[in-house]
Amino acid sequence: MTETQPDATEEDEPLISTEIATEKSTGESTFQAETILETRNLEVYYGSEQALQDVSLKIPEQQVTAMIGPSGCGKSTFLRCLNRMNDLVDTARVEGEILLDGMNLYSEDVDPVALRRKIGMVFQHPNPFPKSIRDNVAYGLRVQNKEVTDDIIEQSLRRAALWDEVKDQLDESALELSGGQQQRLCIARAIAVDPEVILMDEPASALDPIATSKIEDLIEELAEEYTVVIVTHNMQQAARISDKTAVFLTGGELVEFDETDKIFENPDSQRVEDYITGKFG
Ligand SMILES: Nc1ncnc2c1ncn2[C@@H]1O[C@H](COP(=O)(O)OP(=O)(O)OP(=O)(O)O)[C@@H](O)[C@H]1O
Ligand SMILES: [Mg+2]
Repeated sequence: MTETQPDATEEDEPLISTEIATEKSTGESTFQAETILETRNLEVYYGSEQALQDVSLKIPEQQVTAMIGPSGCGKSTFLRCLNRMNDLVDTARVEGEILLDGMNLYSEDVDPVALRRKIGMVFQHPNPFPKSIRDNVAYGLRVQNKEVTDDIIEQSLRRAALWDEVKDQLDESALELSGGQQQRLCIARAIAVDPEVILMDEPASALDPIATSKIEDLIEELAEEYTVVIVTHNMQQAARISDKTAVFLTGGELVEFDETDKIFENPDSQRVEDYITGKFG
């Protein structure tokens, strides 16, 4: 059932058709936490309502960055800006800059579809397609007209910690999997196109504790290779798995952004301390 497409190109699809993209893709890897994504004075409005105020932060490469804060404070809005999903919301207006490896994501020559392959997304509720497990993993590659091999399917499922559970049922429907397995399949689908960044919006909030703990382990493993940005309502989860934590509070204000240990043990802001200790929120 594996499809091979002889015309498929091996080249990474460039975000824009200039040398900048080429230069980026040949950048050497390093174990230092360099900034991969940066927002500068980011403001988002839905109609006349402001959802994010003047958010400037730097997201380190190959680490887990968590976004926490009360409901409605703009966490999902922030995440959606990072791969231009807010373009799909008619009333949304984005001001300021977001840079991926120094390149402005909102510049006119960036193709948002190509961008979303570099910056993939996993949602709160697992959303596999009503197709086989194999076809779900292969989906993004086929859309890009890239070769789909058994090896890519296996490696993507292995990296998503799902291979051992599904290796004998690759051609069965993804909808027969449990919720936790479906979420790992969605992660495998995101990984298969070899993104640089994986955005996750409360990826475990619909799962039971065992499935949640598997996803948490997986996220820490993924950060050895990818940059992970996760929104979570669960402060213990943020404390357990993230390297850096951003705390947003009501009105879309980024109140504090720092090493996770610092945020949870000794935050600078009294408002952050009050939020973390459950005094409000
Ligand atoms: N598509 C939209 N149209 C209009 N307003 C929106 C839209 N999406 C979000 N908002 C508003 O923007 C603000 C931030 O919403 P957002 O969904 O980013 O919050 P959140 O921190 O993710 O909340 P939650 O924790 O409940 O998921 C809220 O006031 C919300 O009502
Ligand atoms: Mg949200």
